[in-house]
Amino acid sequence: MKTINNKLFLCDVSAEELIKKFGSPLYVYEEDKIIEQYNKLKNAIKYPKTKIYYAAKANTNIEILKLLNNQGCCIDAVSPEEIFLSKYAGFETKNILFTGNNATPEDFKYCIKNNILVNIGSIAQIEIYGKLNPNSKISIRINPDVGAGHHDHCITGGPNSKFGIYFDKISEIKKAVEKYNLKIIGIHQHIGSGILDTSKFLLAMDVLLSAAKEFDDLEFIDFGGGIGVPYRPEEKQLAIKEFGKAITEKFSNFCQNYGKELYLYLEPGRFIVAEAGFLLARIVNKKSTPKHNFVGIDTGFNHLIRPAMYGCYHSILNASNMNTKEKEKLVVAGNVCESGDVFTQNEDGIEDRVLPKTQIGDIFAILNAGAYGFSMASNYNSRRLPAEILVKNSNPRIIRKRQTFEDLI
Ligand code: LLP
Repeated sequence: MKTINNKLFLCDVSAEELIKKFGSPLYVYEEDKIIEQYNKLKNAIKYPKTKIYYAAKANTNIEILKLLNNQGCCIDAVSPEEIFLSKYAGFETKNILFTGNNATPEDFKYCIKNNILVNIGSIAQIEIYGKLNPNSKISIRINPDVGAGHHDHCITGGPNSKFGIYFDKISEIKKAVEKYNLKIIGIHQHIGSGILDTSKFLLAMDVLLSAAKEFDDLEFIDFGGGIGVPYRPEEKQLAIKEFGKAITEKFSNFCQNYGKELYLYLEPGRFIVAEAGFLLARIVNKKSTPKHNFVGIDTGFNHLIRPAMYGCYHSILNASNMNTKEKEKLVVAGNVCESGDVFTQNEDGIEDRVLPKTQIGDIFAILNAGAYGFSMASNYNSRRLPAEILVKNSNPRIIRKRQTFEDLI
């Protein structure tokens, strides 16, 4: 992202040009940024047997999956559908791990048929899987009693979480796997999403490593995803090198005591794709109430639900007028028929945002829209899903067509 002549450019193409060519609203991803983020994380962890399992739920566009497959990345899939898409994008089944939750027998059967390792998060589900596929290998998801995340909905460790088997239930796990002669080759946790303070992540690592000592046949330990990126201007990038160093040290020490060099897995979603993505939209309306000045755009929470769902902050730029010193206090509203369809929100509801002066017809760019943007989008109000564009240098290409009216039937 850069500014040239007062206009926002994504790689070497202006946002205005993209809208002119492909229509509005539009999801745009910068290809190099995705690769840069993948390598940043990979290079930060010096432990040699490290594998990155991209959490596909953040963004399952086939072309983005292909890009990551070319980098040597693996996949964390949450559904048979994500397995299907990953296979379609070229991932080998040995490089896909299924971490479902409340998985159905059909989900498990799909994994068995496709030779996909499953990561199981309850004793009852070990029983179900054991009956379907006795004498096989599995991975176990542990709840380490530690959780972290940008919002309560995104904390997946601790007593309020539906995920994983509590770390103190090891003897029950052993009993269940013995019954079906299952071999536990992996142990996993994922404590939450949007973590910028790494202390909880490292604490949870200790709990998982201590549980791992109880299992003799491990081939890997998977510490999940959750690595955050800054959304608010005052938030800082996570110190990824230091974080990588701390992970490497803890893991190397563990392996020395365990007597075997295990694989170290991480499952980032947001960290890889969030900052590469932009939701572009046109300003189509302006109005005021006694309390707020509203500006209306031609997208809504059907296309990016994070502000309405979690009160999340997303930076907004006026891509048509980047350098203006003139500012106004605005509430940015979408075109869905609900009052909560506002992009400028905090956890208590809508808020004013000081933004560069706007006029109808300007293009807004909503930042950090690459993760949990399109993948959480819906057809609410029967509006069509936007197109997705991948840009490299001055070449934008369509990686998903805008839906047609017929697609809605
Ligand atoms: N591994 C597992 C098992 C997960 O459930 C998740 C995310 C990840 C990895 C990747 O987490 P990440 O690195 O992206 O933080 N919709 C929410 C985020 C939900 C995350 C769900 N699980 C949001 O927009 O913030």
